Amino acid sequence: MMQIIEELRTLLPDAEATARAGARLAPGLAPGMLVTLSGELGAGKTTLVRGMLRRLGWAGTVKSPTYTLLEHYIVSSLYFYHFDLYRFNDPEEWDRAGFSEYLRPDTVCVLEWPERAAGWLPAGDIEMRFEHADTARVLTLDATSVAGSACLAAFAANP
Ligand SMILES: Nc1ncnc2c1ncn2[C@@H]1O[C@H](COP(=O)(O)OP(=O)(O)O)[C@@H](O)[C@H]1O
Ligand SMILES: [Mg+2]
Repeated sequence: MMQIIEELRTLLPDAEATARAGARLAPGLAPGMLVTLSGELGAGKTTLVRGMLRRLGWAGTVKSPTYTLLEHYIVSSLYFYHFDLYRFNDPEEWDRAGFSEYLRPDTVCVLEWPERAAGWLPAGDIEMRFEHADTARVLTLDATSVAGSACLAAFAANP
């Protein structure tokens, strides 16, 4: 029977744990998914995405898309798009940049700072939130679709 997981919460004591959380999610990523990461600057969002890409087999550098807004990868036969919308001044920039075209049935889109495109994005299959807990982080993951829930199940099954 399929496991239904809607929400998970996990403590990430250090940066390595954050990268490992990304690696645990990677096997559950499927084409068509949107994953959003919220949390202040330096929370660990890019660190988690780096862990995902490593697990998917990307050996090169994983740059933060802070300045470019978007970095793209082709890895494990996935079109993987990594967005960082921190520098948006106005949510409409999402539309002006034509970024909706990247949300396709054959792509995985992982997006930092979804709040910066409020009103323009569909719900993420998985919505993550990082919070500081002293020097560590608490990560909350919410699934809003069957695909997202399956991804959280994969996460829970691979500690
Ligand atoms: N769970 C954690 N506990 C402590 N430090 C962390 C943790 N996860 C990541 N870090 C560190 O915090 C910083 C986060 O950077 P980054 O991943 O670029 O954040 P963001 O993309 O959210 O701005 C990095 O220096 C990273 O090593
Ligand atoms: Mg970042």
